[in-house]
Amino acid sequence: MGHEFTIFAGTANPALAAAIACELGVDVGACTVDRFPDGEVAVEIREPVRRKEVFLVQPMAPPVNDNLVELLALADACRRAAAACITAIVPYLAYTRSDKRHGRREPITARVIADLLQAVGIARVFTMDLHTPQIEGFFYVPVDSLTAVPTVCRALGDLLPPDVAVVSPDSGRVGMATHYAQCLGAPVIVLHKRRESASDTKVTHIVGDVSGRPCLIVDDMISTGGTMAESIAALLTAGARPEIIVAATHGLLLVGARAKLQHPAVRAVFVTDTVSVTERDWPQLRVVSIAPALASALTRFLADGATGELC
Ligand code: R5P
Repeated sequence: MGHEFTIFAGTANPALAAAIACELGVDVGACTVDRFPDGEVAVEIREPVRRKEVFLVQPMAPPVNDNLVELLALADACRRAAAACITAIVPYLAYTRSDKRHGRREPITARVIADLLQAVGIARVFTMDLHTPQIEGFFYVPVDSLTAVPTVCRALGDLLPPDVAVVSPDSGRVGMATHYAQCLGAPVIVLHKRRESASDTKVTHIVGDVSGRPCLIVDDMISTGGTMAESIAALLTAGARPEIIVAATHGLLLVGARAKLQHPAVRAVFVTDTVSVTERDWPQLRVVSIAPALASALTRFLADGATGELC
């Protein structure tokens, strides 16, 4: 590989940072990420980074704001220590659902996040399955949005019945569902979802025929689990076979999400390790690692500056 580089990790997902470092044949760099007594973030880079390429691995998982500030502080520390180039590896970028205003006095927080990351000297961002691709345009610096779809498809393997239909739980996920469907050779069904509140959604229409079919519902994230629960209920009411698999890139799995997905028809719940999954003792839950996909993108980037096929 061309450049000298070091990988540092915040506290959001050190296991993922270690897995990426292992794939690249290096150790994670020495740094301390702690808290001052009042809760402020305390960061120290404990090895030289002068003229080095630096990768900071920090998904913006809950606690979102703490993890964001850790990333900002790590980047600022590297910038002040004369790192040559700082790349943020933020497999889950938070606030991306705030990408437009719904009312006149709302912020576009995704844009604020982009500004903050760039203000501390981050020169490139690697992320995974961005909520909407146009968020890349909020940044002046390059953003490489990789996708977990091929990795998850490989993991789904033989578990999928041959007549499975891929289901997009809302219009925003049609692109992702189509990608899954192409990888799996399956048809796409689209649900029309209306959001009633931050945790409640309602499916109003189904585009496509699900009767008698097992379904794979795909999404970028499972947060409260409300979208998936509502989708499962709507598909079963429409006559889908009670054989449902759920797959999402970012398994935030907030408190209560597991209970919402605990439906007898749900055979498996696939998520990746973009955020650290702490749920134990959940037989249906399968966590697929995207470390190899990220490491291979970084290898290509280090070799010639191009990430090639973004998957
Ligand atoms: C919404 O547009 C997203 O793509 C997800 O469907 C949603 O954020 C999932 O959240 P929850 O699990 O809380 O329904």
